[in-house]
Amino acid sequence: MCGIVGYVGRAHATPILLDGLRRLEYRGYDSAGIAVVDAGELDTRKCAGRIAALAKLVTKEPVSGSLGISHTRWATHGKVNDENAHPHFDASGKLALVHNGVIENYQVLKDELIRNGDTDFRSDTDTEVLAHLIGKLYDDSCASTVDAAAKKSRLFEAVRTALRQVIGTYGIALIHADVPDFMIGARRGSPLVLGVGNGENFLASDVSAIVAYTRDAVYLNDFDVVAASPDKFEISSLAGDITDHPVSKVDFTAEDVGKGDYPHYMLKEIFEQPDTVRDAMRGRLNSDESTAKLGGLNMGPPQLRDVGRIVLTGCGTALHAARVGEYLIERMASIPTEVDYASEFRHRNTPMTPETVVFAISQSGETADTLGALRESRRKGFRTLGICNNVASTIARESDGGVYMHAGPEIGVAATKSFTSQLTILTLLALLFGRMRNLATAEGTRVIEALQALPGQIEEVLGLNDQVKDIASKYASANGFLFFGRQFNFPIALEGALKMKEITYLFAEGHPSAELKHGVIALIRPDLPSIFIAPDDSVFSKNLNNIEQVKARKGPIIAVSSGNCAKHLKGIADEIVMLPEAPDYVMPILAVIPLQLLAYHLAVALGRDVDKPRNLAKSVTVE
Ligand code: AGP
Repeated sequence: MCGIVGYVGRAHATPILLDGLRRLEYRGYDSAGIAVVDAGELDTRKCAGRIAALAKLVTKEPVSGSLGISHTRWATHGKVNDENAHPHFDASGKLALVHNGVIENYQVLKDELIRNGDTDFRSDTDTEVLAHLIGKLYDDSCASTVDAAAKKSRLFEAVRTALRQVIGTYGIALIHADVPDFMIGARRGSPLVLGVGNGENFLASDVSAIVAYTRDAVYLNDFDVVAASPDKFEISSLAGDITDHPVSKVDFTAEDVGKGDYPHYMLKEIFEQPDTVRDAMRGRLNSDESTAKLGGLNMGPPQLRDVGRIVLTGCGTALHAARVGEYLIERMASIPTEVDYASEFRHRNTPMTPETVVFAISQSGETADTLGALRESRRKGFRTLGICNNVASTIARESDGGVYMHAGPEIGVAATKSFTSQLTILTLLALLFGRMRNLATAEGTRVIEALQALPGQIEEVLGLNDQVKDIASKYASANGFLFFGRQFNFPIALEGALKMKEITYLFAEGHPSAELKHGVIALIRPDLPSIFIAPDDSVFSKNLNNIEQVKARKGPIIAVSSGNCAKHLKGIADEIVMLPEAPDYVMPILAVIPLQLLAYHLAVALGRDVDKPRNLAKSVTVE
């Protein structure tokens, strides 16, 4: 939610900031802006619209300087217009600030500023209030003439004093015209990373924005405030205590965050799945003992055996992975498993037994609701584990352990490869818990073999791309889609519908197939295709009944099936997409891929902005 990039060094800041913003555009794309200090003057350009609009503006009216901050916005407070675009300024116009998050008490702070005579607010944003507050504190402390070093330390102190008054979340970067080689950042609840360069330093809300310039990074913690100059940086707590932070090496390169030869990130990420699924299980299969090795859980055999109940939580696609996880864990390990929306779990009083373990599933590791659920679970003293892709994320750092996805950066707003990585990891977890209980060696071996076969089978499914593209063009004028599945594939129906809604903007719903007759059947009509995920498994004949019920009411049918089922579907289903044969518990990993491709090709056919669908942002760091 919103992207921040800051630069202090000796190079021309503008191209670095614009390049970083382009890489962060997936975080928000309502408006964008840049502020640069040059020769003691603060200069800014900002506008509603995408980074391309800002770049055009900057080409027409260039700004230069070696100190700058920039922002791409996903609106929370105030309309999408030029005024509300970041950066925002203090009353003097010499301080510029960009912000990701929500300042909940901004009205109280604003009223206080107004009472003290500061009435010159130009936007409706909470961010501008913070800029005014910091600016006022700084100006008051610099009432008498002070030298540059003193100005820096007073600005640093003004930021800390202001942030101590803030209720809410923030990742911020700010600069002041008085100190042209000095940039400040701070975080609470919204990610911020410091990139450490040679004679230059960077701030970014995601390291992918700056990895082209440096792979040395310091991941800030909540309540950290960092002051950076070209050759040094200092991190303090809000109280002013200087703290030490390790510099970490970023484990991916600028190429990894590029599109390669693909027209969209989403398509690239769909096609990466043979590798990402392989990477999710790399080094984690123990064929000798027919089990999985997940050392990151930080749990020995007695603790694993003592787990009596599992809660899986997350949002959106991660929640759909959790729903598959429930079936997997119950099937292989017979541990009662419950799935809850993170946003509900964190505010509910879910009864939990002492032997409960909670898993927070999140690609970004920054989703506010999932983080809230994790914190609530830890507050109550439960072992809380993360399944994250972003290794430096807050969820990864605040959990008691977990399993990384190792899927590489996922830039497309629609989650694809992270979903199949999550499913792979949940299968490993189910196998591990199962083998600590009653899952026989031979069954464990079968699970391992099924997992090992997946990368090759995913390649086969990707080979269906042209068929799926043809189906997409045939149904491009449909009014919406219904998705149905049973057992392991019910959550895949939900996920297929989410992908469809998200990037095509068409109406789409997912249901357990059997729910059809309890109401959904009233929707069936010739312009509303139903997609059945009906592989060759123990519930195929039940699915077939439901397919026939739709056919009888003249609803078009797209069947995603496998094995020997084609002969039963011929003459009933209008389209049949055949998957490789696989056990039912890994079938979701294969079955979701044609649905990802279908949503993708339909979105392209409809002229949608696939990687940046309207109203959405990749990582939702607000509640
Ligand atoms: C998926 O396509 C969506 N963009 C969204 O539902 C996403 O899965 C959700 O916001 C959770 O994100 P996370 O995995 O980063 O926590």
